[in-house]
Amino acid sequence: MPPPDPVAPDLLERLVSLCKQRGFFFGSSEIYGGINALYDYGPLGARMRRNVRNLWWRAMVELRDDVEPIETSIIMNPQVWVASGHVATFTDPLVDCTGSCRKRWRADHLGDLRRERGKPEDAPGCPECGGRLTEARQFNLMFRTHLGPVADDAAQVYLRPETAQGMFVDFATVVQATRRRLPFGIAQQGKSFRNEISPSNSIFRTREFEQMEMEFFCKPGTDLDWHSYWCTERMRWWIEDCGVRAGRLRLRAHDEDELSHYSVATSDVEYLFPWGWGELEGIADRTDFDLRSHMEASGRDLSYFETETNERYVPYVVEPAAGLDRGFLTMLMDAYHEEEVRGEKRVVLRLHPDVSPWQVAVLPLSKKPQLTEVARSLEQRLRNRFRTEYDETQSIGRRYRRQDEIGTPLAITVDFDTLDDNAVTIRERDGMTQVRVPIDTLEQACEDQLVASRAAALDRARTAADQAGQSAQPQRQG
Ligand code: GAP
Repeated sequence: MPPPDPVAPDLLERLVSLCKQRGFFFGSSEIYGGINALYDYGPLGARMRRNVRNLWWRAMVELRDDVEPIETSIIMNPQVWVASGHVATFTDPLVDCTGSCRKRWRADHLGDLRRERGKPEDAPGCPECGGRLTEARQFNLMFRTHLGPVADDAAQVYLRPETAQGMFVDFATVVQATRRRLPFGIAQQGKSFRNEISPSNSIFRTREFEQMEMEFFCKPGTDLDWHSYWCTERMRWWIEDCGVRAGRLRLRAHDEDELSHYSVATSDVEYLFPWGWGELEGIADRTDFDLRSHMEASGRDLSYFETETNERYVPYVVEPAAGLDRGFLTMLMDAYHEEEVRGEKRVVLRLHPDVSPWQVAVLPLSKKPQLTEVARSLEQRLRNRFRTEYDETQSIGRRYRRQDEIGTPLAITVDFDTLDDNAVTIRERDGMTQVRVPIDTLEQACEDQLVASRAAALDRARTAADQAGQSAQPQRQG
């Protein structure tokens, strides 16, 4: 059986069903019928998301000497969102169906929605029932709430729609606290909230999601070079660190009419989903727009004094802004394979070993205490070095299949021979090859296998890199 076409239209449904069954993610508060566009991440999802977060943190903070991390509050002074432009312009055009379905749509998504339902893009009326649509009106995507016990206008605040503004408003404090010289970046990971009109495609577009953003402050005039640098570095991260196939990724430079008013260059890292190209990360040259806006609104000086040249200026900012939920969905989708093994369907998630929830599973052949005792002690040993799971339920064949389905690269079987030869079998997920190794050297054997597994993931991710329409070079625009 050939592997399914990764852009097969029903790939998302197959993946979503596997993810619910195995505990990667599922709808939030399902026992009450769920709640639209909000999701929970189960035991495997929570583990895998932490791995992705850690990979980003390692590449963007730990391995660099020019980035400082921060964690800012989700609710900020509402003036932040006035100055940033979100109160006035963070809107989407909304239309209502006056026909039978009464649904609400994003006016700028109508063409795509009609196409998805097999209708001409410019067909009139509601994509669902054909009913008459109202004129478009602007709808602000920020969630509102009130601070304190009185729910009046003076107490109105917003849930942040991006983490970025925290880095701008804290810029001067971080410079002062760290004595940083430019260029340098401030990074954070955290939840953001947008009251999306038409959330879609499972966890691709949701109302609560997590961002991984970095604002890189640099001297005006060096910004385009930094933009180009970050485009290359971020593409590298998706492919090499996370194992996403280059042939399904592209870097797309925004056309001039697509650019935000404050940006002179923006490129999106996009993945080819079953529903078309979708953005995973935006890399924007935001100029000095944000710092200047906050300087004007707050009256605080957010300029920078360059001692080497005696120059004072407002830094420019290059921002790589990635979505964790979309990255997580992409890695699962990109890894999903179906194949036939000895007449049976095998589903396998070929996840990068640094991304997979578990790296190693310890499986005693049976529940006999002689075997489980050895297996349990091996599990305890391995947990010190690897993300290790223990499973003694069901037949060994079914347990291998389960580990394949959740993407565990290595399964270690303790069998009756182990009691005589003090050795165990390591089975590798992708090739299903098995090797017998002495228990004494098990940690080293696992380490070696994971190194090989990383190399295979890199190879797989780079294959067809040349087909990847990813060479669009950012250019100064506007
Ligand atoms: N600070 C810039 C900023 O927020 P963005 O392109 O709006 O830029 C960055 O968001 C990333 O956040 C996107 O590339 C996407 O991965 C993620 N993201 C944005 N809205 C989302 C949503 N409704 N659901 C899931 N992820 C979202």
